[in-house]
Formats: sequence, structure tokens, C-alpha cells
Amino acid sequence: MRIKEHPIIGEIKKGRLVKFTFDGNEMEGYEGEPIAAALKAAGVMVHRHTSKLDRPRGIFCAIGRCTDCVMVVNGKPNTRTCVTALEEGMNVQTQYGVKAKEADEA
Ligand code: FES
Repeated sequence: MRIKEHPIIGEIKKGRLVKFTFDGNEMEGYEGEPIAAALKAAGVMVHRHTSKLDRPRGIFCAIGRCTDCVMVVNGKPNTRTCVTALEEGMNVQTQYGVKAKEADEA
């Protein structure tokens, strides 16, 4: 599910393959790509749940404007994953309201 060659910018240069965790599960993505791109390539569509109605949200604008893709990254909530570069060993968690789900809530 990744673009390999773009009609305007040409061949896409990828970073090295790195491991990160998503809700406790080990995943892989390319260093430097948006976290949201690595999740999308793995089939993950839901990044957060709204606080009032618990509605799922995912990538919408993909340019850092709407906040639908925010997740808890390395313990920091409200991280816009569409504009945050993936790094080795990142801990990415689905956000519920303004925090990750506690272990006893899972
Ligand atoms: S998808 Fe809109 S801010 Fe990330």
C-alpha cells in the first residue's frame, strides 16, 4: 500500500526498515516516513476515539491540520501522526479522548 514511484516527484527514497510498537504489537515501517503511513501500510485505520461519543477517527487531511490522526506517541498524547516521522523503537498507542487506554481498561 505504499507509493513506489510518484508521477511528479519520481522514485520515493525510503529510510531503513525499523521496528516500533502499536498498542503493544511489534510492527515495521521505514524510518522517516510519517507514523500514519507506516500504520496505513499495515492496515491500521483507527488512530483515536473521540472523548464524548467514542467514535473512531483516522487519517483525514494528512497534512497536520485536522487532528483526526492524533495518537499517544512515546507517552505524549495529541501527536499528529501524519506529520511525525517514524523512529526506531517508538511506542505508538491508540488515543481515547486525551490519553491511551490504561492496562486495566484494555
Ligand atoms: S490527518 Fe489531519 S492532522 Fe493528521
